[in-house]
Amino acid sequence: MKQDSGCPAFTKIAPSILSADFARLGDEINSVRSADYLHFDVMDGMFVPNITVGLPVLKSVRNFTDMVLDIHLMIESPLRYAARFADGGADIVTFHVEAETPENITAAIDDIHKLGKKAGLSVKPGTPAQALMQYIDVLDLVLVMTVEPGFGGQKFMPDMLPKISMLRREIDSRGLGCEIEVDGGINIETARLCINAGANVLVAGNDIFYAPDRAVRIAELRGKS
Ligand code: DX5
Ligand code: ZN
Repeated sequence: MKQDSGCPAFTKIAPSILSADFARLGDEINSVRSADYLHFDVMDGMFVPNITVGLPVLKSVRNFTDMVLDIHLMIESPLRYAARFADGGADIVTFHVEAETPENITAAIDDIHKLGKKAGLSVKPGTPAQALMQYIDVLDLVLVMTVEPGFGGQKFMPDMLPKISMLRREIDSRGLGCEIEVDGGINIETARLCINAGANVLVAGNDIFYAPDRAVRIAELRGKS
């Protein structure tokens, strides 16, 4: 996707509901509504060693909020489900490059776009940025995992910063509008490192949901307080 300037206009914050109290999900979502995206982690117990939520919960959340729903599929063979999540209320559907063949990755991106939604592709910490380069011309977002996917509350991996810089250089040199999102261990300190490296969307679970004031923490992470 081409844009006028390769430079991200401002930092977006995406609270991860993985850290929310699911018994009070509506109230939890309202408590972070000043954020830009709502990050929704889908895990299948195969691609990652944890199981979370799926389409029925997405549909309820979609009916409840107008927030931009940023779906992070951590599932095997995501082509099977990409269209169903795109149709089930997602605004952005991101899946993992490690989980599909190149042919199916292209097909899943097409499926998401045909439904008028944004498509993202993610890399685990062990996967190099190069794995994304052949797709970035048609992607709306790349997601750099800064922890091993599967659980909230893990420690940020600073070794991922060069990966973010490499993607920023390539996206800007091609004049693309593809967003760079980071996910895992984001707090005030690691947020600055990621923004400086070129990320413009920050996912944060524990840091926001365990903050004394969630709206204040969202503003602090954006760097505007
Ligand atoms: C982990 C998930 C993350 C998780 C981040 O696999 O993809 O979105 O919720 O949680 P924190 O911000 O607590 O590391
Ligand atoms: Zn996530």
